Amino acid sequence: MDGAVLAPAFDVERIRRDFPILSQTVRGKPLVFLDSGASAQKPRAVIDTMVRTMETAYANVHRGAYHLSELATAGHEAARAAVARFLNAADEREIVFTSSSTAAINLVAHSYGRGVLKAGDAVLISEMEHHANLVPWQMLRDAHGVELRIAAVTDTGELDLADVEAKLADGKVRLVAITHMSNVLGTVIPAGPLATLAHAHGAKLLLDGSQAAVHRRVDVQALGCDFYVFTGHKLYGPTGIGVLWGRMELLERMPPFMGGGDMISEVSLERFLPAPVPAKFEAGTPPIIEAIGLHAAIDYVEAIGMPAIEAHERALVDHAMAKLSAIEGVTLLGHAQDRGGVFAFTLDVAHAHDLATLLDRTGIAVRSGRHCAEPLHARFNVESTCRASFGLYTTKEEVDYLAEALVKAREFFS
Ligand code: ALA
Repeated sequence: MDGAVLAPAFDVERIRRDFPILSQTVRGKPLVFLDSGASAQKPRAVIDTMVRTMETAYANVHRGAYHLSELATAGHEAARAAVARFLNAADEREIVFTSSSTAAINLVAHSYGRGVLKAGDAVLISEMEHHANLVPWQMLRDAHGVELRIAAVTDTGELDLADVEAKLADGKVRLVAITHMSNVLGTVIPAGPLATLAHAHGAKLLLDGSQAAVHRRVDVQALGCDFYVFTGHKLYGPTGIGVLWGRMELLERMPPFMGGGDMISEVSLERFLPAPVPAKFEAGTPPIIEAIGLHAAIDYVEAIGMPAIEAHERALVDHAMAKLSAIEGVTLLGHAQDRGGVFAFTLDVAHAHDLATLLDRTGIAVRSGRHCAEPLHARFNVESTCRASFGLYTTKEEVDYLAEALVKAREFFS
């Protein structure tokens, strides 16, 4: 242990004090925020960084030779470097800023999909994708003649690797695009074996890390994927900023997606030459404050340590699994071996929206509906579910409070 730097112990109460919103009450009850899977709350460090930037260092980026523009450009590019470190990208230029995960997947579907894939090629997704990793591929299929294949999910909520292999077997699949962690089942898919399988059959792998990047240390080189996307607002950063990481040789082959300022190296009335990666994919004024806010969020989680965040969450997941599955009338969706802090469930005597409304009266915020994953709900023959999703500030006591509220809700609705 000599010389080892130990991360400070994970102190959830101290962490909660960093998030101003968590001290709120809802109708006189302490807020129990269990909807971080939809969007996470923001620590003071992110809020202050964004305000301070607007107060002291704001101008447009990559455009001015004057002091403020240089400051803003430096802040924006420092954010890119921070994201590259966060993902262990080989090169900062592999980080493309977008407005969201959805925008990042649409970028790949449009640019790689239309520019590199040919009619007759296939894209493979899975039954557990949220709409952001489904609809762009349906649009590509309809516009470009690319076949869309869907890998099955098992009854326990695992990605069915045998089905993946069967669907790759004829060699037509050029791209596999799969969630790294399901926003409904909590399943963390086996990224390494999936990358090996995809590559063995001549396909590239895109992982949608919208949920996973919040809960786990992501190392894109170790994962072996070719594209990785995530979003700022679920990682305790602002909305309006997303990230696409792609291997440099792929990004270089891809045509631009949107046209406009900043994405050209030369332009005349007749033609344009695209700028090098990543500017080629960042047309127009980028989300400047948001990129700087994301940088602050990354600094925040890295100071706590992703392994410590993951360990806290693993303990919470085990606790929640035991607590929630013991409640009469509650059925959890998905029992994957490797899972994160997302629990979708039904209560036998109440509709999900009614249950969520009742839980709100006790101060508990959960999402109800289909969580932008309609086909997955159809796969499990459920019309809608309630979903409790955890952040690094979620406590064991909050899980217990949810469990007690569910017991009382069942009595109320029966
Ligand atoms: N995909 C986000 C969610 O799961 C919006 O709630």
